[in-house]
Order: sequence, then structure tokens, then C-alpha cells
Amino acid sequence: MSSRISPTAHYTGRVWLEHGLSDPAFATTEGARLHRLIAPLNAGSRALGGPTLDGMLLARHRVIDHLLARAIEAGEVSQVIEVAAGLSPRGWRMTRRYPALRYVEADLPGMAARKRRVLAAAEPAGPDHDVVEIDALADEGDHSIGAIAGRLDRGRGTAIITEGLLNYFPGAQAVGMWRRFAAALRRFPSGVYLSELTVAADARGVPLQVFRLALGAFVRGGVYLDFPDELAARRELAVAGFDAVEIHRPTDLADEVGAIERAGARRIKIIEARVAPGAT
Ligand SMILES: C[S@@+](CC[C@H](N)C(=O)[O-])C[C@H]1O[C@@H](n2cnc3c(N)ncnc32)[C@H](O)[C@@H]1O
Repeated sequence: MSSRISPTAHYTGRVWLEHGLSDPAFATTEGARLHRLIAPLNAGSRALGGPTLDGMLLARHRVIDHLLARAIEAGEVSQVIEVAAGLSPRGWRMTRRYPALRYVEADLPGMAARKRRVLAAAEPAGPDHDVVEIDALADEGDHSIGAIAGRLDRGRGTAIITEGLLNYFPGAQAVGMWRRFAAALRRFPSGVYLSELTVAADARGVPLQVFRLALGAFVRGGVYLDFPDELAARRELAVAGFDAVEIHRPTDLADEVGAIERAGARRIKIIEARVAPGAT
């Protein structure tokens, strides 16, 4: 279990709220406190023309939103499992926008309970929205991705999303997770995986190292950058069972997603990976 990471969800939750992406019910005192704590780092880096943590977070969030909306509108996806959803408002927002969408948010038990309380106080989500418990590291059992995917409609195209999870695990664990996701998606007529990707080659430079150290201290553990570059991540996604992998640069999608901070957006990439149904 990796509940040590859970407080970071309060920080990102604060960022989504401050940028008008969620309901006031998503506000937490932990999030506000953390945001105040990191504010000088963001301000310092911005003053030097560098990336801000919030700029990187918003770029990844908006691009994942865009790719998901595109897959929904194309008729490719009508069910979503968002793994490690934390206090993200994406499921709330997307089910309000697409009422026919089935959306399952999943997180460790403590965070899942917290999310249910937040949602109970917010404007209602869409009609087919749920919060369940998962351990993204579980190979089997009720809280595994396989079990959760097994409870969805096999006849509908499905997406799995992770945002802000991969870098808290060593590369080998991330690849194990990808293997389980690819296997879970293969049971559906179409299956797509969306996630941000931060590789070592994009995390060079003082501002990024400062953010990384701050985050590492905060979660009392590693923040891993085990994929040296995009090519290595592509290779591992293929080995994990994804048949088609696109890696997007948020700056290439700036027209579609609206205002993004270029210095931050340049430091991250977004994975859009697909499995062929029933492939072995
Ligand atoms: C940085 S937060 C990201 C939250 C959300 N995706 C967002 O972008 O706002 C990381 C999340 O991962 C969750 N998490 C950590 N370990 C997990 C695991 N083994 N299985 C599922 N979720 C996990 C934490 O509880 C937390 O909500």
C-alpha cells in the first residue's frame, strides 16, 4: 500500500479548484496549506522564466481531459476507470458533461472514503458515477484492476486513466501496472490508456530538481524517474501489451486545450495507448 502518497492529492485538488475545474466542495484545508507552502517555489521559478509545478499539473490535466473527451465523442469510449483519482474533479465534470458516461473513480480506501464525502457535498455528478477502492499494485483480488474492470459492461469501449501516480513507483512496478491495465482493457471492444509521463530527460534543471526534492520530502519516499526517455517508455508499454502507443507533447495541443504554461508543459508528455480487443 502506498497511502504515504495520498496527501499529494490534496495539493493537486487545490490546483484544480483554483483554476475553476471543480466545485467548492472539493476544497480541503490540507490542500490550501500545501499550496501556500509550495507557492514561493512556484513564484521563484516563474520569476526566472522557468516551469511551475502548477503549470505542469494543469497542462497534464487539460490534455488528458481533451484526449478523453475526444475518445468519448468519437464513440470509442463510454466507460472510464480512473485509477488513483484522488480529489480530481474529472469524473464529476465528465459525467455532468456526458450523462451516458459510466465513470468509476478508484483510489486507496482512505482516499476513496474522503472522495465520497467530497462528492456528497458537491453539486451532483452524472447518474452513472461511482467511487470504489483499488490497490493499483494488486495483481488479483477484489481491489485489483482486473476485478473492477470485470464489473463493467464488456460490450462498451473503456478507458483507464492514471494521473500523478506513475512517478511514485519504481519503473518495474509501473510496468507491472501497465501490464495489468492492458490485460484489463483487452476484454472490451476498444481500450485506451491515458496518463502523463515524466521521463528523466525532461526533468533536468534546477527548478525541476527542487520540486522533486520537495515532493520526495513531503511523501517521505522516492519520486522515481526510471524511464530515461520517451523511447524507453514506449518500449515498456509495448512489452506490457499495448498495441499502439502515442506520446503527446502538450505544447503541440495548445490550440485544442487552451492556455497552458509553455515552460511547464514542455516538461511533461501524455501517453495515449491502445490495445487491440482480444489480442493475446
Ligand atoms: C498525486 S495524487 C493524484 C490524484 C489525482 N489523480 C490528481 O491528479 O489530482 C496520487 C494519488 O494516488 C493514490 N495512490 C497511491 N498509491 C496507490 C495505489 N497503490 N493504488 C491506488 N491509488 C494509489 C493516492 O491515494 C493519491 O490519491
